[in-house]
Amino acid sequence: MAKIKSEKIIDEKKQGAVYSQGAKNTKNAYIETYGCQMNFSDTEIVASMLSAEGYGFVKEKYNADLILLNTCSVRDNAEQKVWNKLEHYKQLKKQNPNVKIGIIGCMAERLKNKILENTDYVDIVLGPDAYKSLPDVLDKVAEGERAINVKLSRTETYEDIFPLKLSDNKVSAYISIMRGCNNMCSFCVVPFTRGRERSRSLKSILEEVEKLVEAGYKEVYLLGQNVDSYKYEDITFAKLLEETAKIAPSVRVRFTTSHPKDMTDDVLETMAKYDNICKYIHLPIQAGNNRILELMRRGYTKEWYLERIKRIREIIPDCALSTDIIVGFPTETEAEFRETLEVMEEVHYDSAYMFYYSERPGTYAARKFIDDIPMEVKKRRLQEVIRLQNQLSLESNKRDIGKVFEVLIERDARRDKNYYFGRNSQNKKIIFPKTEELKYGDYVNVKINKVTSATLIGEIER
Ligand code: SAH
Ligand code: SF4
Ligand code: F3S
Repeated sequence: MAKIKSEKIIDEKKQGAVYSQGAKNTKNAYIETYGCQMNFSDTEIVASMLSAEGYGFVKEKYNADLILLNTCSVRDNAEQKVWNKLEHYKQLKKQNPNVKIGIIGCMAERLKNKILENTDYVDIVLGPDAYKSLPDVLDKVAEGERAINVKLSRTETYEDIFPLKLSDNKVSAYISIMRGCNNMCSFCVVPFTRGRERSRSLKSILEEVEKLVEAGYKEVYLLGQNVDSYKYEDITFAKLLEETAKIAPSVRVRFTTSHPKDMTDDVLETMAKYDNICKYIHLPIQAGNNRILELMRRGYTKEWYLERIKRIREIIPDCALSTDIIVGFPTETEAEFRETLEVMEEVHYDSAYMFYYSERPGTYAARKFIDDIPMEVKKRRLQEVIRLQNQLSLESNKRDIGKVFEVLIERDARRDKNYYFGRNSQNKKIIFPKTEELKYGDYVNVKINKVTSATLIGEIER
């Protein structure tokens, strides 16, 4: 574990003093976020609440009075990352005993009191539905106590809190439209960390979109663990999508995640009807074999999934597709694993997120099945799916050479500041040389002339 040298901290603290000049009464918070987009969206809720309590935000942890880690439990290595980070904060707290440290999000919910029992440097443990107790928690902690609230709620959606955007990206904004998940896939910890599903009112979502549009955002990303089961009174996800798209034709609408068992044709038809709804669907298949899908309790078969893909291609011919894959689920044979590779080739995904199975305590799979696939087999299978997907992504990108796409400029390219970075409707990453008259948030037509498996490289088409 990396030890921090005390000289370094003193040095950074000096910088901190400079940073907070003119804001004497303001306390500073530093928030680190792990996990899915929902967590990033929750960080904005937490930031909004902290701001109301008089906090400012710093990008450097050494300048903070409060450090929060918004954590993820989805796989064991997600949690290990946080524990490793916490070793670092433990040392930091030795140097500066006044700093308060909080674990929030899914790990807080999963481990509850165990976090306080296993550490003496963590002051706050807050689950995803407990952020409204932040002011009380901060009072308690200011008095030197430790505080925990991991109550899950059947109703909390934070729809009355306008998120505070800390990110430098002022082009694309997340909006969470629902919380929780009722699906209980056998491998998944999310239903335990985020509780039952509940949807936000249409009115509150549309108001948030309007405010974001007024603030200059050009893209809204509707978030939920299973957006297709959005339901508020008689409003379905298709209706919500349509109402969002109608707010401003120049604002792009994206969404994630869709669930194959719930994705209906009316969502696809709405996507086809509005140019500003992006032609991209993330549709996690997880595995290509029906026995494994059944053990995963995903609620669909390979045939059902492929029929959904067929409908997507019929209704939205230019739709890009991505997926999530888990290899090495308990009892998965080599032949069953091969079926996953076959389905990937058949669908020809444009991109994919790929994982090996990680047993999560308390889930149905952890209780019923032995995690019997050896680690080296899991890793080899993962390498195989990654290799195949790289090839599929490259082929998909090669087909775009010579095409012209409307690109929304998000930021500078990371590797070369002389290039802009943006995406097309299909969510492909596109870079192209900058010109003076353009800025972040502009749309521009880009002709693709070179590709890698991850990026399209082009030039402005005049
Ligand atoms: N609600 C989304 C997924 C949320 S978790 C959906 O249903 O698609 C994101 C991805 O993490 C999942 O799709 C799955 O591929 C992966 N994942 C979840 N639990 C996992 C586990 N125990 N081991 C490995 N991967 C897992
Ligand atoms: Fe987890 Fe399944 Fe819910 Fe996705 S749909 S969050 S994988 S339980
Ligand atoms: Fe992780 Fe929680 Fe999201 S477990 S994937 S941060 S819902």
